Amino acid sequence: MNREKIIALLKAETPMDEVLIKGWIRTVRASKTFSFLEINDGSCLKNLQVIADESLSNYNDIKKLTTGSAIVASGKLIKSKGAGQKWEISADHVEIVSLAPETYALQKKRHSDEFLRTIAHLRPRTNKYGAAFRIRSEMSYAVHKFFKDKNFRYIHTPILTGSDCEGAGELFKVTAMDLENLPTKDGKTDYMKDFFGKEANLTVSGQLSAEMFCLALGDVYTFGPTFRAENSNTRRHAAEFWMIEPEMAFCHLEGNMDLGEELIKFLTSYVMDECAEDLELFAKWVDKKLMSTLENTAKSDYVRLSYRDAVEILQKSGHKFEYEIEFGKDLQTEHERYLTEQNFKKPVIVYDYPKTIKPFYMRLNDDNETVAAMDILVPNIGEIIGGSQREERLDVLQARIDESGMEKAPYWWYLESRMYGSVPHSGFGLGFERLLMLVTGISNIRDVIPFPRTPNNLEF
Ligand code: 4AD
Ligand code: MG
Repeated sequence: MNREKIIALLKAETPMDEVLIKGWIRTVRASKTFSFLEINDGSCLKNLQVIADESLSNYNDIKKLTTGSAIVASGKLIKSKGAGQKWEISADHVEIVSLAPETYALQKKRHSDEFLRTIAHLRPRTNKYGAAFRIRSEMSYAVHKFFKDKNFRYIHTPILTGSDCEGAGELFKVTAMDLENLPTKDGKTDYMKDFFGKEANLTVSGQLSAEMFCLALGDVYTFGPTFRAENSNTRRHAAEFWMIEPEMAFCHLEGNMDLGEELIKFLTSYVMDECAEDLELFAKWVDKKLMSTLENTAKSDYVRLSYRDAVEILQKSGHKFEYEIEFGKDLQTEHERYLTEQNFKKPVIVYDYPKTIKPFYMRLNDDNETVAAMDILVPNIGEIIGGSQREERLDVLQARIDESGMEKAPYWWYLESRMYGSVPHSGFGLGFERLLMLVTGISNIRDVIPFPRTPNNLEF
């Protein structure tokens, strides 16, 4: 007999004579003569009730089953007499695969997110986290579908690199050297003796590599893990997170904004269409305004305004911000949220940021003061996408690297791409976890990552 998934059984049209499910007990009600076992197999939010009675040869053991135990049950799928469920299984066999002791942490009651973080190995067995990680899986697929349908090629960019794409120096260093006994030369660590013969780190972005492939294959994207040693303990920063980075050849800033807006709209529509049951949980228990936020994000035209205009709106708002804003300062989350939640009440694309607060690769505008950057800001989160048109002019790029106080030598290959067949091109990075926060209403990034990595947290 083949195993059925609960998600499929719940859609049954007629009763069935022989079904078999494998799963974990969420709750039990047992008496001397029969037991109601609520089983979940992870395939969907709903449980299936299994009824076992004293006619089963191992009923003495069945009636001792506990929450968290694993069983295999087979029997008939019959119309349920209980309220709230259509089908249940009248069991012919219940095999006890493992009996969980009463110390199991996930007894039937609501647990705080903080507590569940301390048992991240068990939390996917709860309704909320099961739903969150099913949505995470569906959204990964949706990302690939979006780009496949648009004929973008998927590029695997390296995770170990020798460069710092963002130039922000928030790098996790990678070494194979003995840290207790480092080789030195002229009083400094001799990286020539390290594995790669030079300094290495975990990538902060696949962009520079993606650009090389964009200038060869046309429209491309990467979707992979990135790492930042930012010591910021906020609810929207993780040390390890996934980023989606498209890069388009022969594309200016406006086409870049169009793609970003289209991608977010596609993904928010997709989750509403394909993950409706799991979303219901979030709309009911996590964020009452979730569905209207999603509708708004999927359907409204995003506001597009220059950084200069954004600063002016913020200055004239009369709103008391913790951080004062003026031209040349980066927008803080509070500013981003003010723009999207209070001022415009929808997503906002801010473009043309001052060059002093953006990385070297962004294309310098004619005013010599701003670069062709664009960030997409959404309600509840703030920045979800950061991108730009890239500096395709070799001389300007070299000058920008110098200006940023960076060394040109390690970027020889990047510079060479501007010597041979350089074209205007653009791209951006969408933070996958921020997207998941947007579509679930979950307010802490730690709760959309299976095993989150943040300062002082490398458990599991
Ligand atoms: O704005 P960022 O730093 O842009 C880049 O890395 C570019 N190289 C991308 C590109 O143009 N190809 O990061 C892009 C996005 C942010 O908008 C945010 O959504 C997410 O990545 N992000 C983080 N998400 C979680 N934790 C962090 N520490 C993040 N830092 C950035
Ligand atoms: Mg950014």
